[in-house]
Amino acid sequence: MEDYIVEMRHITKRFPGIVANDDVSIQIQRGEVYALLGENGAGKSTLMSMLFGMYEPDSGEIYIQGEKVTFRSSNDASAHNIGMVHQHFKLVDNYTVAENIILGMEPMKRFLGVLPCVDMKTANRQIAELSKRYGLEVNPTDKIEDLPVSVRQRVEILKMLYREADILIFDEPTAVLTPQEIEFLLKIIGELRKNGKTIILITHKIEEIKKIADRCAILHRGKLVDVLDVASTSSQTMANMMVGRQVEFSADKSSPHYRDTILEVDHLTVRNANKFDVVKDVSFRIRGGEIFAIAGVSGNGQGELADAIAGMLKAHSGSIKLCGTDITEATIRQRTEAGISYIPEDRQGVGVFMDFTLSQNLALRKYYREPFAKKGILDFGQFDRYAESLIGTYDIRSGQGGKTILRSMSGGNQQKAIVAREIEEHSKLIIFVQPTRGLDIGAIENIHRQIIAERDKGVAILLISLELDEIMELADTIGVIYNGQLLKIADASTMTSHDVGKYMMGVKEA
Ligand SMILES: Nc1ncnc2c1ncn2[C@@H]1O[C@H](COP(=O)(O)OP(=O)(O)OP(=O)(O)O)[C@@H](O)[C@H]1O
Ligand SMILES: [Mg+2]
Repeated sequence: MEDYIVEMRHITKRFPGIVANDDVSIQIQRGEVYALLGENGAGKSTLMSMLFGMYEPDSGEIYIQGEKVTFRSSNDASAHNIGMVHQHFKLVDNYTVAENIILGMEPMKRFLGVLPCVDMKTANRQIAELSKRYGLEVNPTDKIEDLPVSVRQRVEILKMLYREADILIFDEPTAVLTPQEIEFLLKIIGELRKNGKTIILITHKIEEIKKIADRCAILHRGKLVDVLDVASTSSQTMANMMVGRQVEFSADKSSPHYRDTILEVDHLTVRNANKFDVVKDVSFRIRGGEIFAIAGVSGNGQGELADAIAGMLKAHSGSIKLCGTDITEATIRQRTEAGISYIPEDRQGVGVFMDFTLSQNLALRKYYREPFAKKGILDFGQFDRYAESLIGTYDIRSGQGGKTILRSMSGGNQQKAIVAREIEEHSKLIIFVQPTRGLDIGAIENIHRQIIAERDKGVAILLISLELDEIMELADTIGVIYNGQLLKIADASTMTSHDVGKYMMGVKEA
């Protein structure tokens, strides 16, 4: 028998209404980077959660280094040197970096020779060593809640390494990162491989697979379609196999028909909690039928700009007008009612209820209006019919349709649901922040089509994205934000991605 470090044989896992993994068998060699590719809801996270001991398969077997194992918890998996960085991080927010890393594995010493206590000094030294060895810089005494996602991810990686994991599972690690951070992470993964680690990488980004992976397994609706040698397979082939049809890499978009101005932002300045100007004297307007895209490296004020327009943050000075009416001081609810839809970066913070059903979440913004409520009485049949139609249009996949609890849906499908709900508000202005983060290419294609359709209906679109490709593909007008300022606003047809990239780095004349 060949020496596989991980072997999963005939794994089947069912959830109510769905076979998440259907007789899947994979074999992973020591020291390889093994990618898992598949649409949202294809069963990638489920398969890896079983390898990490979070679920038990309904049938099938798992072998680690040739030995058959049964994991009842992730502790069992850790004991077999398996580590996982989850799609949604699992750190304790009010603990420090070091406390999170050593949690459950604390080195002990005896205080005054008797009382057992945690040996923080040893822990800190070990963490410092690891972070130096792999170039994963952290400050052990920082609190998690104060750290940006990219650093939290480093902490998650260190946590695996601290447990001496040899098999490292990354579940969509790059979905939350900026392009620069992605480069860095891919380098780290390369470094880990050099150190003899085996890496399983779940990602939707085929170019990442091309860059770093040796082999790639493709899952489609729970079934293993194929395992490919990455170097000898084209990106287009991988994309088609994953979606099960021919994928178009660029959206069909006709030239814009601009209508009246919908949003006017004048000399807007926004201050953060530390009294620091994060948006500085920004002015622009968006017409009906126009996609105004803001390009910029993460953290240059684009999130705060969107928050200020939606009313989540106060304007420090300047004004915001919607269809000629000043809304600078309006509440969030007033802005929504006036016709603003908002899909912010932090999706879980915007009125999705993880323990409600999909259908309830989809109707959340209209349940108190006709036809969902008549004279104060809710019509649940309406909820279900409405959900059915959105599930169809936006291809939202889940085990039990509208009755599925949101929490049990795959990350990407939760996201599709929020985007669907906001687009269906038929607003005058829709603000999209990173609308396709974490989505598979088929789903991205679909959302792009919906955004263009709204624009063609005359809606004004503000699109904020860290993906330059997405900006270039969708924008009618591009604004580049740098250090809180709009450095450049121009018709999209007059700029190349190279120009935009330069402005994003703060170069004034491209
Ligand atoms: N705990 C659960 N309860 C019920 N259904 C679940 C549960 N976990 C996953 N599912 C369902 O199993 C299917 C596979 O989900 P999974 O999270 O593995 O997909 P995925 O490939 O990781 O997708 P994504 O790219 O969107 O993260 C989905 O239809 C999902 O709704
Ligand atoms: Mg997943």
